[in-house]
Amino acid sequence: TGTGIRVAAEGDIEDGEALKVPAETTGHDDAIAVFHDGGTYYALDDTCSHGQASLSDGWIEGGEVECPLHSARFCLKSGEPQCMPATAAVRAHRVEVHDGAIWLHPG
Ligand code: FES
Repeated sequence: TGTGIRVAAEGDIEDGEALKVPAETTGHDDAIAVFHDGGTYYALDDTCSHGQASLSDGWIEGGEVECPLHSARFCLKSGEPQCMPATAAVRAHRVEVHDGAIWLHPG
C-alpha cells in the first residue's frame, strides 16, 4: 500500500532495540513494534498474545523477541510463538528500508 509510513530514520533504531509505533500513527488496532536485529528490521503487533506486555520492551536476539513479562519468545519474521506460555502468534507486518528511512506497512 504505497510507500508505507515513515517511522524512523535509518540508524535511529539501534541493533537490538525496538521502536513502539502507536496505533494513532499506524491506523492499526494495536501499536506496532519495529525491531532491529543484526541489520534486519521486523515489525510485529506490540502487545504480546499471552497478556498485557509490550514486545517492544522485550529482549531481541537471534531473530526472536522474548516477552518481558513471562518470557515467551516470538519469531520476529512470522510472529509465531517459539515457546510457552504463548500459544498464539502475533501479527507480522512488512518493513522496508529505503531513502535513508524505515517504512512500515501495517496489515
Ligand atoms: Fe507475554 Fe505472558 S504476557 S508471555
